[in-house]
Amino acid sequence: MQRLIPVLNSDHVPLHLISVINTLLTAAKEISHRLHQGSLAGTLGSTLDANIQGEVQKKLDVVSNQLIKNMLLETGLVHAVASEEEDDVVMGNPDAKYLVAYDPLDGSSNIDINGAVGTIFTILEKPDHPAEGTELFLQTGDEQLAAGYILYGPSTLLVMTTGRGVRVFTLDHTVGEFLLTVDKITIPQDTQEFGINMSNQRFWLPPMQQYIADLLAGSTGPRKKDFNMRWNAAMVSDVHRILTRSGIFSYPMDYKDPKKPCKLRLLYEAMPMSFLMEQAGGRSSTGYERIMSIQPTHIHQRVSVIMGSRNEVDTCLGYFKQHP
Ligand code: AHG
Ligand code: MN
Ligand code: MN
Ligand code: MN
Repeated sequence: MQRLIPVLNSDHVPLHLISVINTLLTAAKEISHRLHQGSLAGTLGSTLDANIQGEVQKKLDVVSNQLIKNMLLETGLVHAVASEEEDDVVMGNPDAKYLVAYDPLDGSSNIDINGAVGTIFTILEKPDHPAEGTELFLQTGDEQLAAGYILYGPSTLLVMTTGRGVRVFTLDHTVGEFLLTVDKITIPQDTQEFGINMSNQRFWLPPMQQYIADLLAGSTGPRKKDFNMRWNAAMVSDVHRILTRSGIFSYPMDYKDPKKPCKLRLLYEAMPMSFLMEQAGGRSSTGYERIMSIQPTHIHQRVSVIMGSRNEVDTCLGYFKQHP
């Protein structure tokens, strides 16, 4: 089985970018180790703090953020980082060109129930035009150089793209290396499985209400087939299921909290996952526009997300066209 670095070399990924990716993975191996140690490592449970999003931070949110941030900045190859757990952009080497945005621990409410969690990342380049701090990161998804996630499940997996398809690497704990286990992921275009937090149903916009109602109507409804539902409450593992066996994943806009109509963050959740989806032949949209084309205005900006098997996402988007 091929190791990660030779695979990236054969894809002509620049050496410094490979170093940045490899550094992220060194941090991920440490996070994976601590997660597997669980209570033995003394890092389960919550802190007394909240992050910029108003969420109570888990101890492992904070530890994972520090590990990734410190390791990346120590390389000298990173100009700035942006993280779910950092209020502002953190500056690194002024002469370096890479920018890394990340969700250090995705699905962190699953930590205390020993459920799957992940790390999501995207790597961008310092823009050509003069930019400072937050402005550096205000680039569309199409400008991503590399993106992916590490899924800490029964196995620890790296799923990533550098724009040449989506590959899966599995962490071999015996040698501490990520080894290539799937060369190219292609999402089936059709599906009979959806993932959405149904408890928000009454707060969704009318097109999403109607779309899901038609899925639930099953073989006697307008879709003429039965659908299965899955929700792991960790975007990494919900998206991984879709990349593995098809499906549609959505965290749509809702009216539950008027101050927070969308839950998922554009820069370090929706954008990297959309890059993976499109590279695997899937589709990703807010309902009204392609996520990869959105011009961000803030590093912690939130966005409505509908992604997965191409034909199913297109069917869903048809409902939004009918009820603009
Ligand atoms: P995070 O743990 O990084 O804050 O992200 C949590 C997100 C995402 O992973 C998941 O899809 C969603 O929250 C789950 O939300 P619900 O708790 O509403 O199901
Ligand atoms: Mn969070
Ligand atoms: Mn997350
Ligand atoms: Mn997180």
